[in-house]
Amino acid sequence: MKAIAKAHAARGADLIEVPEPAVRPGHVKVRVQYGSVCGTDMHIYEWDAWASHRIKPPRVIGHEFSGVIEEVGEGVKNLQPGDEVASESHITCGHCKQCINGQAHVCVNTQILGVDVDGGFAPYAVIPESNARKTYGKIPLDIACVQDPLGNAVHTAFTGPVDGQDILITGMGPIGLFAIGVCKAAGAKNVAVTEISPYRLALAEKMGADLILNPAKEDVTAILCKHYPLGLDGTLEMSGHASALELAIQATRPGGRISLLGVFPDQTVGVRLNDAIFKGIDIQAIVGRRLWETWDKMGELLSSGKLDITPVITHRFPYEDFNSAMDLIAKGETGKVVFEIG
Ligand SMILES: NC(=O)c1ccc[n+]([C@@H]2O[C@H](COP(=O)([O-])OP(=O)(O)OC[C@H]3O[C@@H](n4cnc5c(N)ncnc54)[C@H](O)[C@@H]3O)[C@@H](O)[C@H]2O)c1
Ligand SMILES: [Zn+2]
Ligand SMILES: [Zn+2]
Repeated sequence: MKAIAKAHAARGADLIEVPEPAVRPGHVKVRVQYGSVCGTDMHIYEWDAWASHRIKPPRVIGHEFSGVIEEVGEGVKNLQPGDEVASESHITCGHCKQCINGQAHVCVNTQILGVDVDGGFAPYAVIPESNARKTYGKIPLDIACVQDPLGNAVHTAFTGPVDGQDILITGMGPIGLFAIGVCKAAGAKNVAVTEISPYRLALAEKMGADLILNPAKEDVTAILCKHYPLGLDGTLEMSGHASALELAIQATRPGGRISLLGVFPDQTVGVRLNDAIFKGIDIQAIVGRRLWETWDKMGELLSSGKLDITPVITHRFPYEDFNSAMDLIAKGETGKVVFEIG
């Protein structure tokens, strides 16, 4: 079969011929239908410092995908051929302190699909049974494939109250855009957002944000203070930009929460932390998805019809045309890009 792989320790990726993977105990063989491209895939494609330390070529990439179960291995109990599933990218050990205490999202032995083991940008993928999440109701597979990053948005949003709250979301990448829909579906009173790319500001409008601000063009702190004189109840930081964290500290109300999902490229970030301390703001660090509460919540939201994420999926490519997709993503004028694989 032909898979998108990091075949060499250099920039780019290749469509290479690899053997079809054989099912093994505790695992399922997925006939992959759709995949979606993540910032992580871009880091691997660009072969940055993180990727070159972590990835051991040859590696089939892709950790966000959906498909149909083709075959189940010995001992698999909850899935059967024909089931429609989507991937959870974090393979956890099940026996570390975190795993046995309901915190598997911070398992110390986490392996990531398409990073540490072969992923799903290929016609078939063999993954642990628990990483293949059966889709709820009638969620189409071209939507189901983005549940791994959508789960980041769901996890971040529900780390604090949402219903009836005024929420600020900083950074309108695919995850920030998903978060607008999640907060609206969960009954947020107002969703204000910030972003510097005009293309993505337009997508935020399509997702139904109530107040859309561009920190590159306007005094966002002043505007937010005018609209929300008491401060916003919660901020979801999804840009990975230090100025957005500073804005979050200034704009969030005393006693509110700031949930940090964005990863800061600089190892240290300078902000006025004392302002957060004296406001008694609850600052939370968010990683991955809660296993498996986030998936249950996400399945309910998607299948209820309350959450429509279709505006975020802006482009589709046959997976063989991945170089064109990567070039377009690098230009910044995309939401989520989906690969048609099956
Ligand atoms: N913690 C985790 O488990 C986890 C998982 C996935 C992604 N992430 C991180 O979450 C963030 C969001 O992911 P994504 O895929 O949507 O990323 P993305 O890079 O596509 O989106 C980030 C957006 O922030 C915007 N931005 C830059 N500076 C800004 C500023 N000052 N104010 C407002 N917006 C600004 C960018 O233009 C971009 O659209 C990234 O930082 C990513 O690395 C974390
Ligand atoms: Zn991802
Ligand atoms: Zn573990």
